[in-house]
Amino acid sequence: MNTPKNSSELEDIEIQLLLEGVYRYYGFDFRNYAPASLKRRIWNAIRAENLGSVSALQEKVLHDANAMERFLLGLSVNVTAMFRDPTFYLTFRNKVVPLLRTYPFIRIWCAGCSTGEEVYSLAILLQEEELYHRCRIYATDMNEMVLRKAKSGIFPLHLMQEYTQHYLKAGGIKSFSEYYTAAYDSAIFRASLKENIVFSQHNLAIDGSFNEFNVILCRNVLIYFNPFLQERVHNLLYDSLCRFGILGLGRQESLKTTLYEKHYEELENHEKIYRKLG
Ligand SMILES: C[S@@+](CC[C@H](N)C(=O)[O-])C[C@H]1O[C@@H](n2cnc3c(N)ncnc32)[C@H](O)[C@@H]1O
Repeated sequence: MNTPKNSSELEDIEIQLLLEGVYRYYGFDFRNYAPASLKRRIWNAIRAENLGSVSALQEKVLHDANAMERFLLGLSVNVTAMFRDPTFYLTFRNKVVPLLRTYPFIRIWCAGCSTGEEVYSLAILLQEEELYHRCRIYATDMNEMVLRKAKSGIFPLHLMQEYTQHYLKAGGIKSFSEYYTAAYDSAIFRASLKENIVFSQHNLAIDGSFNEFNVILCRNVLIYFNPFLQERVHNLLYDSLCRFGILGLGRQESLKTTLYEKHYEELENHEKIYRKLG
């Protein structure tokens, strides 16, 4: 027998076993997520389930599909907002929309769309620019539960004040309240906004490309991955974009130091909107 390992090494082994089990049994692959935030979330799940160790959590999630669903929800950070980082949308309106006007049909992929706020924001912007009828937006996430919310197009009413501010900073040209109906504490968004949206499950860690797109938004997803998985996803996004296609990343994300840096040009400093080179 080798010298006993210290508790942190043991915990790392338990985490590897948990992630391996979840991958083999359920097909969700968290093995290449950034370790620090993953560890934090695993411990949140352990506490939420009233357990005492990673191994106990493994036992629970492998034998109880409901516990797995809760675990999945805890691991995938679903924080999002309408017109999140408004200047991103302003740049999209000013710099990307004129390029899109030259296409007869526009295919867009929102990868890691969470509960859909980003997709509805884009649909609003494209409607205002009179381009929406030419668009098909594929909104995907690995988590079916958040996709169900996204499909509903219903968001908490109390957030609308904040979203109105975002919308105006993003160059919105109407009254934001035109886009939803208030009912009790919910804002129900216009059905016409989701006419050209296809919601479906797609896992960036294991699934392949499923179309060729003119625009891909993959915002605030890559930050949760380790460099190996980030590289895989960059490869997938690159392969899924047509020539001169547009890639939008999150504020804390970048193509710098990836193999793909030289294959794109930045459309505007700091906004993380890139154009694939020919
Ligand atoms: C922080 S949210 C970002 C939502 C939205 N893109 C935004 O910027 O507001 C991250 C989303 O990525 C999803 N996600 C995490 N890992 C994923 C994977 N391997 N494949 C697809 N989606 C994933 C999570 O379920 C979550 O909904």
